[in-house]
Amino acid sequence: ALERTFSIIKPDATRRNLTGQVNARLEAAGLRIVAQKRVLLSDREAKEFYAVHAERPFYNDLVSFMTSGPVVLQVLEGDGAIAKNRETMGATNPADAADGTIRKDFAESIEANSVHGSDSPENAAIEIAYFFAGSEITG
Ligand code: CMP
Repeated sequence: ALERTFSIIKPDATRRNLTGQVNARLEAAGLRIVAQKRVLLSDREAKEFYAVHAERPFYNDLVSFMTSGPVVLQVLEGDGAIAKNRETMGATNPADAADGTIRKDFAESIEANSVHGSDSPENAAIEIAYFFAGSEITG
């Protein structure tokens, strides 16, 4: 079924000028970028977005990292977009990521892992709505 998922190109990737290379891989996988904006996240936005991880030991570092430079916020659309995007990204830890995935080829560490992607339809809807108005998304 046609789905939408939420994606972030993280500061480690924008810093190394990898936005185009990441987007080329998303598009080659059959994902359509139906909304996209490059922003500097506020401390509050990063904290709220990752609130589910608030009790994890890496939370404060993660918030600092995600506000350390520009990110590219995206809505991706495609058949089975959530799973397709997760396959294209590879495992959270680049050391575990399969060959040919974005994280295997670009990520610097488990924290600076170049991209974020929603893990479920429920979270995709929440994450998209957190950063995008309906009028900003054009299928
Ligand atoms: P992401 O998929 O955006 O979800 C949470 C983020 O926390 C993860 O990618 C990493 O950037 C970061 N992170 C840092 N350390 C860990 C860890 N040990 N386990 C999971 N995520 C981590």
